[in-house]
Amino acid sequence: MDSLLRELQNLRLCRVRGRSARIFRNTPASPPAQRINQSFMMASDPEAISEAARIIRKGGLVAFPTETVYGLGADAENPVAVARIFEAKRRPRIDPLIVHAADIESARRYGNFSEAALPLMEKFWPGPLTLVAGKTSLVPSIVTAGLDTVAIRVPAHPAALALIRAAGRAIAAPSANPFGYVSPTEAGHVAEQLGDAVDLILDGGPSAVGVESTILSFETSGPVMLRAGGTTVEDIQSIIGCTGIQIGTVSRPSVPGQMKRHYCTRTPLEIIDISESRDDAPQGEKQEERTGLLTLSLMEDASRYAAVEILSPDGDLVEAAAGLFRALRRLDAISLDRIVARPVPEKGLGLAIMDRLRRCAVSPDIS
Ligand code: TXA
Ligand code: MG
Repeated sequence: MDSLLRELQNLRLCRVRGRSARIFRNTPASPPAQRINQSFMMASDPEAISEAARIIRKGGLVAFPTETVYGLGADAENPVAVARIFEAKRRPRIDPLIVHAADIESARRYGNFSEAALPLMEKFWPGPLTLVAGKTSLVPSIVTAGLDTVAIRVPAHPAALALIRAAGRAIAAPSANPFGYVSPTEAGHVAEQLGDAVDLILDGGPSAVGVESTILSFETSGPVMLRAGGTTVEDIQSIIGCTGIQIGTVSRPSVPGQMKRHYCTRTPLEIIDISESRDDAPQGEKQEERTGLLTLSLMEDASRYAAVEILSPDGDLVEAAAGLFRALRRLDAISLDRIVARPVPEKGLGLAIMDRLRRCAVSPDIS
């Protein structure tokens, strides 16, 4: 009996392993204009990369892992394919996409970069830094939402690089989530929310960085950080000097994607500093309220909350960023009345974490 039980347990383990190793559904066959049947493949499988590249070349949509978050990719040179990204995400056409290139040389085919961008490319690519450049004629205007500039990065995830190389062209990709929602950091997040609209999902495991790339543009006044992200200001300053970067000044406020409300859970989220309020947890007449807590490390009585997400028990901001969106999704999935987030120090990746939390905390009527 014992051995039968063990055998059954082993069998179950094998089946679970088998399933996580490869879920191979229908092979795409129909023309790109229609939805090709969705598949789910391991990104480490060379066959999966060839299949994904074939879909991209045919004008389909592939969700793929990057080191920041999962992207929803299409051939950056094909306006019809790019239009499918906007449809799948229900993203306003005025919100430009990031073009993902395999290396500096191919990035230069799509963008005319400022001289000041060169040392940054050399230092941080491949990696979570997006640079805004003058667009070349290879980039259709739907990618840039009509702007004469294009945002470009070279991602660091080996599967993303392999896919771009195999496709033989750059891939335009926003984060693979419905517009406005929390970005996906696992293949399963994409499957849950965009599954049907995507032709293939490449599963490359959890994203290591966990927040989107830092976006820098180059104005006559110097570099401007349009979005805090996976490359820290401190690291950028180590290359261009401490006074060389303007932070948080969106010199072109018409560029969307800098929307106040974004990266949102459906559950209302508030950022409350523990030292500023002792009345933020359910008590007295608020007793019925189900509140979740999102905190870097636990500094208070957790029993007052319906759920608690601790981002890093040691207060490590890199670990916290990597788990931020997963934690927000988990809290959002359990029908809470609200989420209380404790602020994190605004240094290193803490700047990007606070940026995402603040945009999530903006009330729905402001955007
Ligand atoms: O880490 C990332 O950047 C991820 C992965 C998939 O690479 N992508 C991502 O894309 O976060 P998305 O679409 O969620 O953010 C793209 C943002 C736009 O919303 C806009 O703010 C900015 O990039 N952007 C794109 N083109 C721009 C341009 N020409 N000028 C200024 N900002 C631009
Ligand atoms: Mg996004």
